[in-house]
Amino acid sequence: MMMIFKPLSLIIAVAFLLTIQACGGGGEAKLSLATHFTEASGPQSPSISREELLDIAVEKYTRAAVSEPEEGFFRSIDNQGVWQPDSMSWTSGFFTGSLWQLAHHSQNEELINLAQKWTSPLARAASWPSHDIGFLVDSSFGKALRMTQSLEYEPVLRRAAENLQRRYSPKVGAIRSWDSGNNYTVIIDNMMNLALLFKAAERFSNDAFYQAAYEHMLTTQRHFIREDGGTYHVVEFDSETGAVIKKRTHQGYSDNSVWSRGQAWAIYGFAMAARYTGSPSALETARDAADFFISHLPADGVPWWDFHTPAEQAYKDSSASVIAAVGLWLLAEQIGEGGNSYRNQSLSLVDNLLNDEYTSADPAQHNLLRRASGSVPHGLEIETGLVYADYYLIEAILLQTEAITEPL
Ligand code: GLY
Repeated sequence: MMMIFKPLSLIIAVAFLLTIQACGGGGEAKLSLATHFTEASGPQSPSISREELLDIAVEKYTRAAVSEPEEGFFRSIDNQGVWQPDSMSWTSGFFTGSLWQLAHHSQNEELINLAQKWTSPLARAASWPSHDIGFLVDSSFGKALRMTQSLEYEPVLRRAAENLQRRYSPKVGAIRSWDSGNNYTVIIDNMMNLALLFKAAERFSNDAFYQAAYEHMLTTQRHFIREDGGTYHVVEFDSETGAVIKKRTHQGYSDNSVWSRGQAWAIYGFAMAARYTGSPSALETARDAADFFISHLPADGVPWWDFHTPAEQAYKDSSASVIAAVGLWLLAEQIGEGGNSYRNQSLSLVDNLLNDEYTSADPAQHNLLRRASGSVPHGLEIETGLVYADYYLIEAILLQTEAITEPL
């Protein structure tokens, strides 16, 4: 009897453990990839060219920029397609950044003046209390400096880099993303903020900026990237020991799913970090993240907001497409000849958006890109026009059409 009972109880225990593991350990439902959802059609052929879209962008952004930044920074559109003034958040530098990119493209004096007008009020973002200092200041003051070469933009960039570097903990080996809670919280998006530090390290010959960014990249590589190249959104560390306490999501479907924009941040962030560090392993990570993204796209070639979304939340996130498109281009640039497939994938991601479903050519609407999703779990900004979606669309198109090898 005992002989039978023991193996039987062992089998039951193993089966129980396997079930728990398949369910994500936290009582989560089993996840499946969302690639199987049926869509009306595959990718649509572009109905507007990149050059035409840039001309439309110049018109739309010149018109929207006549309002005053003191009334609020733009983040999303209202139901008429008009940018809504909002208080400062991680997105506040992107409208300004788009103005600089379009000024660079058009060399239009009026756009340069408007871009300058929208840059100055962002000086206070240099002491923003989160990792978003990088997003805020690199997209505005960073682009302004690279476009004009005017040294008046340097002090804000230096101050922003100093404040971002102060958020680095040698115990954790990472830059803290958010200050809330007792744990030391880092999110995958933070890879993007390293651009500010890498660029400032070169410009101001500051090794501490470089080291903080480099160590952050290594820590992210160790703890955020899964075997299959998919990423976790949030990792909470113990601030004293640096031990991982929890891996979870904030904007994704579930702790073990892959949030599409987070995956796009990983492609772009690691490709950019590889460019500044020359690290072959950073390039490898960018490649793994890219392969996951590309191989799990749905039929029309535009990602759902989460690669594991259930059918009842089948919303698109066009912002993830364009961020990934820039990341793939940067990756291709560094791989050389073998990078052509990533260059072609980058072109396809943009091609798939150049139609009425995803792009607005209507001059009455301020946004270029439709169907971007800010945060589905929070019911916030679902399939709408978002400033950062436009910013990365313009960045991708400039890389793909002009004689430049990296973003402005
Ligand atoms: N960094 C916030 C986001 O991607 O929504």
